[in-house]
Amino acid sequence: MLDATFELMDAIKQATGISLTEEKIYLLESRLSDILADYNLSDFGQLSKKFKEGSDLEFRERVIERVTTHETRFFRDESIFGAILERIIPEILERKQQKDPKIKIWSAACSTGQEPYSVAISIHERYPHLFKNISITATDIAKDTIEKAKGGVFSAFEIGRGLPEAHLAKYFDPVSKGLYRVNDEIRSIIEFKQHNLIYDPYPSGCDLILCRNVSYYFDQQERKSLFNKIEKALDQDSFLILGSAESISEYSKNFIIREFGLCRFYELNPSNFTLFIKGA
Ligand SMILES: C[S@@+](CC[C@H](N)C(=O)[O-])C[C@H]1O[C@@H](n2cnc3c(N)ncnc32)[C@H](O)[C@@H]1O
Repeated sequence: MLDATFELMDAIKQATGISLTEEKIYLLESRLSDILADYNLSDFGQLSKKFKEGSDLEFRERVIERVTTHETRFFRDESIFGAILERIIPEILERKQQKDPKIKIWSAACSTGQEPYSVAISIHERYPHLFKNISITATDIAKDTIEKAKGGVFSAFEIGRGLPEAHLAKYFDPVSKGLYRVNDEIRSIIEFKQHNLIYDPYPSGCDLILCRNVSYYFDQQERKSLFNKIEKALDQDSFLILGSAESISEYSKNFIIREFGLCRFYELNPSNFTLFIKGA
């Protein structure tokens, strides 16, 4: 039984990059028990065999959906929004020096979408005149999760976790009792896509990447490869925001650490160190 569990853990790592440690075996058992039953599989050995065969795509998607952790909320770690609005956007604008600058943001591993919606709402609040120049690509490996994000419908419970009350009336339309949909204007600047950080090609020329609370599921090697690809996806002088428990410093020397309040963020190859000293 234990061999089969390790085999499954290995198959999950191959497919998603997620390293499950032995302490997480109980998690696999609780998350996958109904899939075992639904597909008439007797144990994890059969489950990992079917998963690795890969011919039943729906089955694979279901397993990936289950083994990934989608915890998120609106305006998670509030200080990052201060950093985006007060430092990152003004500095991107200063760097671009264009009349009508386009700003390209990638919210990688965005789960059910609260992160990119929060970014879009905060930019709309602070820079309404810039809003049409912003494009946000929001991605996640898990199919149902990214579909939910795309739908933009949230329960009162999800709304209650972090969304300032004033934003509900302004940026959401009621759908039915206790359900609210992000309005069309906010949704119009976000493109949601299924994307695997381990295998799929990355976008390029990003001005800001948020890749939050996912790298800590990866082992050192996958994390190194993730940060390497993220670095290539960014323009010079562009920005990266990780989760508060994550850091790129061990993996790349090409970023400087910036701080804004409680938020730590990273700037790639800054060409203007004085701005950093002045602004941090
Ligand atoms: C804890 S959530 C973080 C959501 C959001 N970034 C936040 O900080 O609130 C982690 C997300 O990473 C996604 N994920 C895990 N492995 C991934 C991979 N290889 N490629 C893309 N997304 C992945 C999961 O599906 C999950 O939705």
